[in-house]
Amino acid sequence: MLAGVVLAAGKGTRFKSKKPKVLQLILDKPMVWYVCKALEKVVNSLFMVVGYGKDMVCDEFEGMVDVFVSQDEQLGTGHAVMCAIPDLLSSKIEYCLVANGDMPLVTDKIFKNFVDFCLAQRVDVGIVTTELDNPFGYGRVWRDEKGLVKKIVEEKDIKDSSIRDIKEINAGIYFLNIEKVKDLFKKLSNENAQKEYYLTDLVEVAYQEGLKVLATVVDDGTCVLGANNPKELILCEKLLQNRINDKLLDRGVILRNPELVRVGPEVEIEPGVELLGPLEVYGRSKIKEDTLVESNVFIKDCEIGKGCIIKSFSYLEGAVISDFCTIGPFSRIRPDTFLDENVKIGNFVEVKKSRLEKGVKANHLAYLGDATVGEGTNIGAGTITCNYDGEKKHPTFIGKGAFIGSNTSLVAPVKIGDYSVVGAGSTITKDVPEKMLAVARAKQKVVKYRKIKIKE
Ligand code: UD1
Ligand code: CA
Repeated sequence: MLAGVVLAAGKGTRFKSKKPKVLQLILDKPMVWYVCKALEKVVNSLFMVVGYGKDMVCDEFEGMVDVFVSQDEQLGTGHAVMCAIPDLLSSKIEYCLVANGDMPLVTDKIFKNFVDFCLAQRVDVGIVTTELDNPFGYGRVWRDEKGLVKKIVEEKDIKDSSIRDIKEINAGIYFLNIEKVKDLFKKLSNENAQKEYYLTDLVEVAYQEGLKVLATVVDDGTCVLGANNPKELILCEKLLQNRINDKLLDRGVILRNPELVRVGPEVEIEPGVELLGPLEVYGRSKIKEDTLVESNVFIKDCEIGKGCIIKSFSYLEGAVISDFCTIGPFSRIRPDTFLDENVKIGNFVEVKKSRLEKGVKANHLAYLGDATVGEGTNIGAGTITCNYDGEKKHPTFIGKGAFIGSNTSLVAPVKIGDYSVVGAGSTITKDVPEKMLAVARAKQKVVKYRKIKIKE
């Protein structure tokens, strides 16, 4: 049995943030999400060591992580793994693949190749390394005369410039044969610059014990970059954004201003879609062919059909939008909204938890909340469904082929029948049967007011 162990207990002091480092976002996902996602494909079960901001981290990853291990005091990466050993043993795990939680660019392929190599070579302690032009900040990999890894020296503990010049660095991915290493953790010491129990020292201990310590070198160093501060976070995000956008472009999605197009890792976009940056598409959104999304649009967890146009400055969340709809500019579509084909939602229209059947038009300045609107109905400018009475939300039903005049308040619960018309400026508090005209406003009076002398 192979388990993944993600180290996610650190605070990330260099972020100056209350949020634990591993929860810092890359696009719309916490950075450790990417590590878990890549590990998931390779291991049988997933462990996560949590400590700083533990509740926040557990909340975010329950469901994805099988076992959370508490590291109450963050005494170093070696100590973090040591905390997980009892749980690993009781879960009958033979091997574990340990990964730092702050390496969002890592791929399942790196994990897979590394594990295959370690299992084939019967490695006791394995590490992943890479060569960086600027190795500053990383642990340097020190090899013996035979080329075997004998020690990792942390940046802060480097005393010798020949070590500082080593370009081969420790990526922060380890393979451990648990039976072989479980008793070695006691040999770790915290007599070092950071007063921590380093996982990296396990390499030296294992080497001295005559265990089999091997390294896999990965070519693309960008895949194992760590995000230890805001600058590195943003660099990682840029690289990930490029990776996602390159794939989209290769598939036939047109991205204009690609450097300003932010698409989350779980979004699915069909070839033939066109996105105009700057914009953001996140969550589990899906966009079908031939849809155009203009600039300054935010989309999260939406399904958008084919041939739609989402015009600038619209904000869409948790909605299903069928084929050939037009949304915006300046529209807001809120969760649990369903728009059937050919619906038109125009400027300054907000739709919440509503179902709009085929061809409904709400072109200007309206609020539709908890509403059902039948096929082909026209919602005039300034129509408001008054769905909230201060305590509860109530539904509004509007039939098909209806016409709601401008500046109408529909005080819910209320029903407007099929093909009925509501006169502009009405406040409707009672149901309107089908094919009727309802007008509910004060009659216009025109009376003499005063004499005004008009100066010419
Ligand atoms: C670590 C490695 C370094 C390597 C680099 C790669 C050590 C001692 N050094 O350094 O050789 O080149 O990663 O990016 O491991 N964590 C815990 N508990 C702790 C401390 C840390 O769970 O007590 C977690 C952190 O949340 C983080 C990960 O372990 O996800 C790595 O810790 P970090 O402080 O970032 O280590 P680096 O200094 O980057
Ligand atoms: Ca790090």
